[in-house]
Amino acid sequence: MEPKTYFIRTYGCQMNELDTEIMAGQLEKRGLVPSSNEENADLLIFNTCSIRDLAERKVMGKLGRIGRGQKNHAIIGVTGCMAMAKKDALFRKFPHLDFVMGTNNITELGAIVDEVLYTKRPVFKTDDHFEENLDYLIAKRDNKLKAHVSIIRGCDKFCTYCVVPYTRGQEVSRPPESIVEECRRLVDAGYKEITLLGQNVNSYGKDKPEWNCFFHDLLYKIDQIPGMERIRFMTSHPIDITVELMQAVRDLPSLCEFVHFPIQAGSSRILKKMHRIYTKEQYLEKVELLRHYVPNVSLGTDIIVGFPTETEEEFLETFEVMKQIRYSIAFIYAYSPRKGTPAIRWKDDIPEEVKQDRLQRLMDLQNEIANEERQHLLGQTFEVLVERHNKDGKMLKGRTRCWKKVIFEGSEDLIGTLQQVKVHSYGHQTFIGELASPLHSLSLSCR
Ligand code: SAH
Ligand code: SF4
Ligand code: F3S
Repeated sequence: MEPKTYFIRTYGCQMNELDTEIMAGQLEKRGLVPSSNEENADLLIFNTCSIRDLAERKVMGKLGRIGRGQKNHAIIGVTGCMAMAKKDALFRKFPHLDFVMGTNNITELGAIVDEVLYTKRPVFKTDDHFEENLDYLIAKRDNKLKAHVSIIRGCDKFCTYCVVPYTRGQEVSRPPESIVEECRRLVDAGYKEITLLGQNVNSYGKDKPEWNCFFHDLLYKIDQIPGMERIRFMTSHPIDITVELMQAVRDLPSLCEFVHFPIQAGSSRILKKMHRIYTKEQYLEKVELLRHYVPNVSLGTDIIVGFPTETEEEFLETFEVMKQIRYSIAFIYAYSPRKGTPAIRWKDDIPEEVKQDRLQRLMDLQNEIANEERQHLLGQTFEVLVERHNKDGKMLKGRTRCWKKVIFEGSEDLIGTLQQVKVHSYGHQTFIGELASPLHSLSLSCR
């Protein structure tokens, strides 16, 4: 029976969120409507993540439970990175699954659902390579102000701990005309902020040298779109952060002064073992250069603690680098061994308590740094994209160019606009401010 309603549960990163929007668009084009909950959906999809053990366990638990409770004619599918990591082993563990569709087969969702319907047998498609034939314009976006736009899929870096090169395949850049066209349409539809997505956005164009359009070239093209207010990008690899990119952050009015610059570890020996292809010194030099070009830039990072053989001294190097650089945002993780990655051959020899202790020490340090940064920013005025009401419904809420949350009083019609807000205090991680008069001088400083 043709399904009438669908529900997609999404795990993992922004790329998965965007893939969910694209799948939802495909299903709605076919006439399906969203179901308000997963129990009642005729088609239920789990768009999964494999990055750490916990991410997988969440989905496995859910899949086990859903098998027992779901109404019996529903079609249940697994998509995303776990589909690639576990492939048909998923059918053995969860016999009630109808399909497993890999990250590179997203265009085939409709055909796969048809095959399930007609053959009444489990269907399994997990290609290793992505063919650039996706209709991105079909994406069904719930947010009307901020959009994610995919510019490159896959990753060729092969960090030894990471599943992404195996679950997303090789890097495939999307043609610049197609990206610019989508951005133009989004701006015309009233979008104010576009985040360019890829596992490695700054490798953009390297797989297609004949286009002669690298990441910074693409940024210049997008910045020129009339009405483009804000561009962000996620995520970048330090090795591909070029001087041209730094200059783009300095020069392009719409490009936000925030760069995710993930170091992963502060010890050069561990970085080498991670295959990050830079040393601590090279990384620090690059940060210095970026700050030379863009003194007010805000930096974000990802860090893994407890990588195999990491000593206390090596961990302290990470601690010192964080103290030195003072990131605005840091995502800190305990190392999680992943099947199929090169690091799995090394014993996961750092005890869980030690990992948790290192994690906690870095989090405490980051909280301290972030608090000092907030204190330092009080009294300054920032451009805020007003996104919605605060939870209590009284204040408005938005973000600065450097990703800081701000709440302030104002009328509803400011939602969807850019405003200057002077911040006077903060609670938790959110600044509290008031609308600044238009004559108030604007501080672009984010640090
Ligand atoms: N392409 C991005 C990373 C995507 S994964 C980049 O290179 O920045 C997001 C983060 O998850 C990584 O930066 C890393 O810090 C973390 N991560 C990846 N694999 C991990 C693992 N096996 N254990 C713990 N953290 C991991
Ligand atoms: Fe994973 Fe490294 Fe690729 Fe990032 S650059 S996705 S951490 S392999
Ligand atoms: Fe997870 Fe895959 Fe994203 S492993 S973090 S969903 S690329």
